[in-house]
Amino acid sequence: MGIRKIRKIGDDILTKRSREVKEMDHRTATLIDDMLDTMYDADGVGLAAPQVGILKRIVVIDVSAEANQPIVLINPKILEMSGEQTGDEACLSVPGKAGQVTRPNYVKVRAKNREMQEIEIEGTELLARALCHELDHLEGMLYVERVKGGLHDAGNKEQEED
Ligand code: NI
Repeated sequence: MGIRKIRKIGDDILTKRSREVKEMDHRTATLIDDMLDTMYDADGVGLAAPQVGILKRIVVIDVSAEANQPIVLINPKILEMSGEQTGDEACLSVPGKAGQVTRPNYVKVRAKNREMQEIEIEGTELLARALCHELDHLEGMLYVERVKGGLHDAGNKEQEED
């Protein structure tokens, strides 16, 4: 288990663009393991490397109810998006808050998996939202910049935290 410290809003690193991962090495593999541990420990549905202070284009996501279907995406790019959904969004880097964000209801993403093989993943609803949210982190963007109507207290644990 490697739980890393989650950077919070106001930390400069969250506003920076992350760099492509060129190859899988021990350091990067450990980072991915630690990101998964950190996400699950914090009850999040997604985490991007800059949130643990590393400017690499890596995100981990798990939107399954049982929290047992991890998705690891390296150098992800959105290929397609369609539709629209508006709903509350939250972020482990903005603790205790949530706000309404409009996102596509469907996205298709190309990325590399942890074996550096090219994969494509399609998501709707929560997965589409998580993909967009996490990819924004790689551009140095937090969801609070996309919120309409301001932030409110998340209040309960059922709130999605990604
Ligand atoms: Ni986030």
